[in-house]
Amino acid sequence: MATYLRLFVAVFWSIAFLYILVCACLFPLLGSQHNSFLDEDDDDGREVLADFFKFNTCSLAAPSGNSCQSDGKFVFGVATAPAHVEDKLNDSWLEFAKGHDGHYPVRAWLNVHAPENRLKFWTQPEVELLLAKELGVTAFRLGVDWGRIIPVEPLHGVEEAADKEAVEHYKWILRRVHDYGMKVMLTLFHHSLPKWALQYGGWTDQRTIGYFTSFAEYAKQQFGDYVDYWVTFNEPHIFVLLTHCSGTWPPGSKRSTLASIGCFTNVGEFGIAMKAIGDAHIAAYKVLHQGTSKSMVGVAHHVGVIKPYGFLDIPIALSTKWLTEFQWIDQIQNHLDFCGINYYGQEILSAAGLMLVDEEEYSEAGRGVYPDGLLEVLNAFHKRYRAHHPSLKYIITENGFADSRDLLRRPYLLEHLLAAYTALKQQGIPLEGYFHWTLSDNWEWADGYCPKFGLVAVDRIHELKRHPRPSYYLYQQITKTGLVTRKQREREWNILQSEIKRGGSRPFCRAVDDRQRMWADGLDKPTMRAIAEKDWRFGKSPTQDLIVYVLRSFEVIQTLILDVIQVLGGRANLQSQHEPMRDL
Ligand SMILES: *[C@@H]1O[C@H](CO)[C@@H](O)[C@H](O)[C@H]1NC(C)=O
Repeated sequence: MATYLRLFVAVFWSIAFLYILVCACLFPLLGSQHNSFLDEDDDDGREVLADFFKFNTCSLAAPSGNSCQSDGKFVFGVATAPAHVEDKLNDSWLEFAKGHDGHYPVRAWLNVHAPENRLKFWTQPEVELLLAKELGVTAFRLGVDWGRIIPVEPLHGVEEAADKEAVEHYKWILRRVHDYGMKVMLTLFHHSLPKWALQYGGWTDQRTIGYFTSFAEYAKQQFGDYVDYWVTFNEPHIFVLLTHCSGTWPPGSKRSTLASIGCFTNVGEFGIAMKAIGDAHIAAYKVLHQGTSKSMVGVAHHVGVIKPYGFLDIPIALSTKWLTEFQWIDQIQNHLDFCGINYYGQEILSAAGLMLVDEEEYSEAGRGVYPDGLLEVLNAFHKRYRAHHPSLKYIITENGFADSRDLLRRPYLLEHLLAAYTALKQQGIPLEGYFHWTLSDNWEWADGYCPKFGLVAVDRIHELKRHPRPSYYLYQQITKTGLVTRKQREREWNILQSEIKRGGSRPFCRAVDDRQRMWADGLDKPTMRAIAEKDWRFGKSPTQDLIVYVLRSFEVIQTLILDVIQVLGGRANLQSQHEPMRDL
């Protein structure tokens, strides 16, 4: 027996030693984490820090067959999604949120007044459109719901299956966007499969590729006259991960952590579905470009800056980065006029969980704030694709911050715009526009109504009455002048600092386990969290110390051991479980 034990210990330490060695060798692959792009001219007394309208964004990319949509003027916009805003929509999300067998997988939904109304964008689109017009944006990103337009499996073609009334109403909305002087960015697939496609397996079934292509062709026939930018797919890897691998999204078949990890590989369902979505994009790109069309076709790709929590998390961080950063864009790169980037911030990974680190700042939705990352991401993409695709343009198709107090959103907006401007000015990246996520507080997927992403607050009890937050007016100043000034930057940062001095806190909507790991679960009611003291402004984030990674590694080992003990002890499910509250 003692021999076996000794053998076991020897094997354990050999593996541990090798693993640590591998981590150490991989460390340089994480790349530089420090930026000082703004430092050099930060103190030269300039009043204007960014002047977006000074640049002709068309001249930055090599001319291509497609005209430059913006005529060179930087585009400011806002972004929305059908599942978040449309009422009278009997989609998979509604069915999912209603729950089954006493299980309610969408948080902060049952405790909200008339949640199924969303933002009443179907019956009262004018409310949102007028708010956007007043905001001064020159583009509006919205989507059409595939399942609304094609409510049954189109076994005999889309023409027969399509809901013509719904199509006419969408046309009316799109015309209205133009009437109000805004360009249309139209998303065809935004995290929502028609129920009939979900039933037979969605993107792991090849049928979906053909169905999507014919839907795109139909959308082009019906809406082509009104669309300036097509977004075929929004954040497909997030959709696949949460739908197929973790089962956090409809239809919601939850899986064990181990099964999720197996799924989240190139040979698992993740790889199969991503390949299918890539093929569907390429087919859709071709049909959207048929005939004479000035519109541009692209995707909205989610990119976060992925960081390891400790030294030992480097391999998992690198493999996540490898699976999610460029892989899908590589596949479709020859069929893109623009690459849309949805950037929210940094994700600190520890094993299979995201960490909530005390010193770091997060939005209510649990996304880490890191404005420098936006420039890092734009740089990385431009560097990778510019040689083969000199005409490829970039658009920030989403960037935003859940913050019901609107204290952090204002500096967040300014700092990310400074990062975007640096990409344009110093790096010459052909960045055509910036879309803020989002206009009014929305139903945020499985998080329900807890995180408040809106520039405008919504009183759900009083007929969805809108109350623009200060950041609405701040963005309005910027869309009208194209300027970000030193005064704005100092003012918003100082307001936040005085709130920190007062010991102010802010809501937080994500479930956290006893070792500070955030799983995909949201909360029905927010908890309060201190505002971080860190100076996270653009160009000021300090380099992460190597020693911090090493120290955290010990913590990670301890966590792993405790996890194993817990699993052996029968508490296999570490995810926090919450009973939904019904206070209405
Ligand atoms: C929504 O669709 C489901 C079938 O998916 C159906 O059972 C239900 O009655 C529909 N609800 C409404 C309000 O139409």
